[in-house]
Amino acid sequence: MNFYVFNTYEEVSAYAAKIVSDVIKAKKDTILGLATGSSPIGLYKELVSMYERKELDFSSVKSVNLDEYVGLSGNHNQSYKYFMNCNLFDHINIDKKNTFIPNGISENLVESAKQYDHLLEELGYADVQILGIGANGHIGFNEPAEKLELSTHVTDLKIETIQANARFFESEADVPKKAVTMGIGSILKAKKIILIASGENKANVVHSLEDDYISTNIPATLLKLHPDVSVILDRAAASLLSQETIESETNETTRVSDR
Ligand code: GLP
Repeated sequence: MNFYVFNTYEEVSAYAAKIVSDVIKAKKDTILGLATGSSPIGLYKELVSMYERKELDFSSVKSVNLDEYVGLSGNHNQSYKYFMNCNLFDHINIDKKNTFIPNGISENLVESAKQYDHLLEELGYADVQILGIGANGHIGFNEPAEKLELSTHVTDLKIETIQANARFFESEADVPKKAVTMGIGSILKAKKIILIASGENKANVVHSLEDDYISTNIPATLLKLHPDVSVILDRAAASLLSQETIESETNETTRVSDR
């Protein structure tokens, strides 16, 4: 796991966008693994700007999203499908037929989760997977638990996740209690992983990524098993990291600002 710390969220987003755009430039038919939440919004803005400047072409790109709320159709303004359209797909030349998001309104959620897994396998998994992180350590909607599922599955959201995501809904009662999420196994099959975190409320969980332990009670710690993970942080999210880690990051910050 490599940590990169920047002074501002804008710099975090620019660095993440540089990694993603390098992958797309090297492989036209990149499989992009996408995430929702507020963390990747800046990165998506950067990708849109790069597309507008004709630096990026998404015409052969396919995308797979991590998760979707159960019960929300793509027209619901808090569905992750809607989020992806508004924040990225509507502004770039990706063919929407090549954008895949777990189905949260299927009559048979278990079967459609299985199909999503087959699709991931067929596509060969993400070339680069973008992740945010929940303050409780969830990635996608893989919530802390004694056991974690490898494959796409339906999951109950933890109360702290419902409360954290209530800010996007009219009230906490409107937040769906279940979601369909890619499993940890599929996330770890991505060739490259970028985790973005900003803000003080992520400092604790980011701190747990630094040591030599893994725990299913902090699902993101399993990313330590992956050989190519970039954790891209602002100062607030990095505030509990050891001085040693911060020092090795300072060079990176400088390098990026010099870009
Ligand atoms: C949601 C999403 C996650 C996301 C997390 C953090 O629960 N399912 O994929 O990483 O929230 O969100 P934010 O980036 O808004 O802090």
